[in-house]
Amino acid sequence: MRGKLIVVGAGPAGPEHTTLKGLEAISKADYVICWSDLQTLFADYIKGKPVLDPFKETSTFKGKKINELTESEMVEYHKYYLEKTNEVAAIIQEQIRLGKKVVFIETGDPCLFTVATWYAEKLAPEDVEMIPGMSSLSAANAALGKSLIHAYDTRFVLITTPNLLSEDIVKDVAKYESTIVMFMAMDSLDRWIPLFQKYFPLKTPVGVVFSAGHSDKEEVIEGTLADIVNQLRGKIGKRQHAGLVYIGKFLKGKASRFALEDRKYFLRMHGFGWDY
Ligand SMILES: C[S@@+](CC[C@H](N)C(=O)[O-])C[C@H]1O[C@@H](n2cnc3c(N)ncnc32)[C@H](O)[C@@H]1O
Repeated sequence: MRGKLIVVGAGPAGPEHTTLKGLEAISKADYVICWSDLQTLFADYIKGKPVLDPFKETSTFKGKKINELTESEMVEYHKYYLEKTNEVAAIIQEQIRLGKKVVFIETGDPCLFTVATWYAEKLAPEDVEMIPGMSSLSAANAALGKSLIHAYDTRFVLITTPNLLSEDIVKDVAKYESTIVMFMAMDSLDRWIPLFQKYFPLKTPVGVVFSAGHSDKEEVIEGTLADIVNQLRGKIGKRQHAGLVYIGKFLKGKASRFALEDRKYFLRMHGFGWDY
């Protein structure tokens, strides 16, 4: 019998956010793949199983941290990274051929900015099962306690990361009322904040949720495009990879009641008065 790759979305902060189905899959796995922090959080479910950290050999390169590499070193690192990724893919394929259940534990939602999909895409669809997980986005939404949409006249929610944005995109998006959510944005504030300041009103609300879902360390910091850098000064530190950025009027609150109380909006949501 052939095995399977089962990708489990672990949620933002450990087993209390993982679905029962996900926890059961981890408990019954023959082989587990996940990075070291998740190995610690899920130790009770993983115990006794072979575990592979897919990032172990790629977290540094030539004795340097990845964010210290020069551009030419980054080109070399890319080649090395592809080789290592292919090695992990080959291990997964071999385990499946041997009839093993390989569980890849991913943080949050396994289909939102993750690496497990790279491995899944190398396999036949019938060899892969995805078990959904709660994204850090869901946990951060709960921390804010506000509706991303319907929210005032918000037309869409844009989920992205600063490295995918260009000046043209920011300029175009600024034409519409929207909620923007940015992953992996904390280490490039100096690049994307001035770009947004150029095209959005400076009073546009900005919020950052750190360590969403972690009851002991979750924190929300709010400001505007004009002052968020000051609000964040000295507060990022080691939380560079645990912050989610929100931009949009919904942060002002009472957004969802707007959809109820504003007659024009109410009629539009029921199919009247569309102008497109
Ligand atoms: C590679 S992405 C993984 C996202 C993950 N798949 C999810 O659905 O949450 C990592 C980014 O997610 C965000 N993130 C992950 N965990 C977080 C948390 N607990 N609180 C806030 N942001 C978090 C940060 O922006 C971080 O840079």
